[in-house]
Amino acid sequence: MKKWYAVIGDPISQSMSPNMHDEWFKDNNMNASYSPHHIYPEHLGEAVESLKLLGCSGWNVTVPHKSAIIPFLDDIDESAEVMNAVNTVEVLPDGSLRGSNTDGAGFVQSLEEMFGQQCLEKKVLVIGAGGAARGICYGLQDKGYGPIYIANRTIEKAQQLAEDLPNAKALTITKAENILEDFGLIIQTTSVGMNYATTGMPLNPSKVLAGTVVADIIYNPLETEFLKAARENGAQTMNGVGMFVHQGALAFEKWTGIQPNTASMIEKITEKLGGNYVNR
Ligand code: ATR
Repeated sequence: MKKWYAVIGDPISQSMSPNMHDEWFKDNNMNASYSPHHIYPEHLGEAVESLKLLGCSGWNVTVPHKSAIIPFLDDIDESAEVMNAVNTVEVLPDGSLRGSNTDGAGFVQSLEEMFGQQCLEKKVLVIGAGGAARGICYGLQDKGYGPIYIANRTIEKAQQLAEDLPNAKALTITKAENILEDFGLIIQTTSVGMNYATTGMPLNPSKVLAGTVVADIIYNPLETEFLKAARENGAQTMNGVGMFVHQGALAFEKWTGIQPNTASMIEKITEKLGGNYVNR
């Protein structure tokens, strides 16, 4: 019987996940499909029941449901527990629902696909202290990266995140700007620069040293103002397409046991988003 998978969110029409997963099903000759569903927050519980009832084999969860869905699941793994957020739901053979979070591991896989293990020994600066930053910090620490420094506009949120992690410290944005040359890996996780909705940069990258690895989790635009300025300073840069593709690939693998082709998907999505950006 044909299997079906889904993504739920509000809004959802912008999601690139349906095309990505459908292509992977095709690549692997699988009789399956993936559909987007616009679910308002007040209908989340009914939506989970409906997905189950209608035989959905697994689904992704996006904003604003990543934390809210937890009470509707039977079990969550350590990644979801630490992040207090779920982006992937598996329907187990007994019909129970297990949530996990592939965002942090997806970021690390994307980083290692591009730079190998060269960032492992580097001092890390994470800019931002929201859900995305939490996932990435968890993913990095899980793989032995660090020490991690977290800089955020609202310092209290950086302090809270640093307290929740075993080997992390909070910094003000100004302090981070002043000691930027100390960091070998800098990761921009805020929404500043996304879709041209917020222009500007969350932090002035003028003190980034040449050779530093600078990543931005935004992928639309393919190169944020921040990433461009870092690249012009001689940094090696990476945008958010890889993280997006790898978090999806990890979900795909949980559902199907198959590792899909990430490299060609990164190329396709980059092309779709305007094309001429090359991570380097
Ligand atoms: P996400 O799940 O995408 O991380 P979030 O949890 O709302 O979203 O977090 C957004 C992050 O972007 C936060 O670190 C936020 O900083 P504050 O904690 O100070 O709000 C940061 N952010 C959003 N808009 C910003 C802006 N204009 N300047 C600086 N930081 C901003």
